[in-house]
Amino acid sequence: MIQVNLANIRSFVTPNYETELAQRLRIAHDHLQNRDGVGNDYTGWVRLPADYDKDEFARIKAAAQKIQSDSEALVVIGIGGSYLGARGVIECLCSANYNLKKKNTPNIYFTGNGLSSDQMSEVVELLDGRDFSVNVISKSGTTTEPAVAFRFFRKLLEDKYGKEGAAKRIYATTDRARGALKTLADQAGYETFVVPDDVGGRYSVLTAVGLLPIAVAGVDIDALMSGAAAMMDTCANPDMATNPAWQYGCGRYELYRTGKKIEVLAAYEPNFRFMCEWWKQLYGESEGKENKGLFPASVEFTADLHSMGQYIQQGERHLFETVVRMGPSATTNIVPFDEVNGDGLNFLAGKDMDFIKLQAMDGTLLAHVEGGVPNIIVNMERCDAYALGELIYFFEYSCGLSGYLLEVNPFDQPGVEAYKKNMFALLGKPGYEELRQELLAKLNG
Ligand code: PA5
Repeated sequence: MIQVNLANIRSFVTPNYETELAQRLRIAHDHLQNRDGVGNDYTGWVRLPADYDKDEFARIKAAAQKIQSDSEALVVIGIGGSYLGARGVIECLCSANYNLKKKNTPNIYFTGNGLSSDQMSEVVELLDGRDFSVNVISKSGTTTEPAVAFRFFRKLLEDKYGKEGAAKRIYATTDRARGALKTLADQAGYETFVVPDDVGGRYSVLTAVGLLPIAVAGVDIDALMSGAAAMMDTCANPDMATNPAWQYGCGRYELYRTGKKIEVLAAYEPNFRFMCEWWKQLYGESEGKENKGLFPASVEFTADLHSMGQYIQQGERHLFETVVRMGPSATTNIVPFDEVNGDGLNFLAGKDMDFIKLQAMDGTLLAHVEGGVPNIIVNMERCDAYALGELIYFFEYSCGLSGYLLEVNPFDQPGVEAYKKNMFALLGKPGYEELRQELLAKLNG
């Protein structure tokens, strides 16, 4: 079970902020539960861990098994909410070095999440001589980055296996009915999975968007969904004492009110890095609008204590930390005794790495709080598929709550369109001629 420890924000906030905010929090909570707040068309994720399409879930598992049996690699094409969750879960549970490990599941290459020609060429090179499949993921079915990448990988598959063979290796996760990808998939006969209408990209990790790649990596998606469902029940409880999402959502909003404008998510496990990326998108896109919102940042400790640690300790006092503590490691590593003790480390001989890490965590916590950085601890008892399902839902629900406290629509992303319009105009997309002239004039001074 996720536990939130707010002891180290108390000296920075109004003593009775929870009572002060209780009524607004209750309204926000009721809007989420009743699905009648701003942006309610996109709150399908609230009940998703219970109300998901069970037939499709079975198809996801079957497709994952097929990919595991006929492919040495899966290429996952998607950007933003269409890949961050899957990558976060796979790296967290299977390792950031997943592709390098000995295993009986396919390598997974994420691409189409940018416009790097070199990155794409590298994936193509890594696929050379290997059997592979492609999971192309785009809710809108029209996003430029994955659409461009898909052209290349579709051709690669068709050149290798022929059109019919390729069609059996392409899995399209997209809208039920709309969009270019859906049309293409139907015409070519690809197996398709649905991003539900009422679930936005950044809330979609527990749909086929995340579940298919996650299952291919061998993660127990039943356990992931069970953990999320348990947290869904916990979060439905309108009670500050027992609802961790209330505690976290309310605490971070109060810190924002007191002038802390940056939230730094930290973990002491490198494998958590892409969960941080997922979290940053979730909170950044949900709250950063109308000139409001905490800026979500992340660090990886203890590595970043030797870089960003300086700023956190003594830089501008406009930030707070949220530290995810992930429970005991799967492995035990005891520091060996050394006769000579040339490095003077015998005081650690016989100690487990986890013990040393824990002291680093506590020491850092005390130093940062002393330095003026409030600290929220999110405790996971352990790190497995069930616990990660809990954590995902916990962060999603807290995000919905704090978006409503902030009085923004946490489920839209109007700002994302601005760059797209300019890019289309500069690329010469039909319909953007006037804007193109305007932009070219600006660029040419
Ligand atoms: O959260 C969101 O909605 C976005 O980040 C999208 O996931 C991202 O823009 C990709 O969109 P699509 O899945 O339509 O290609």
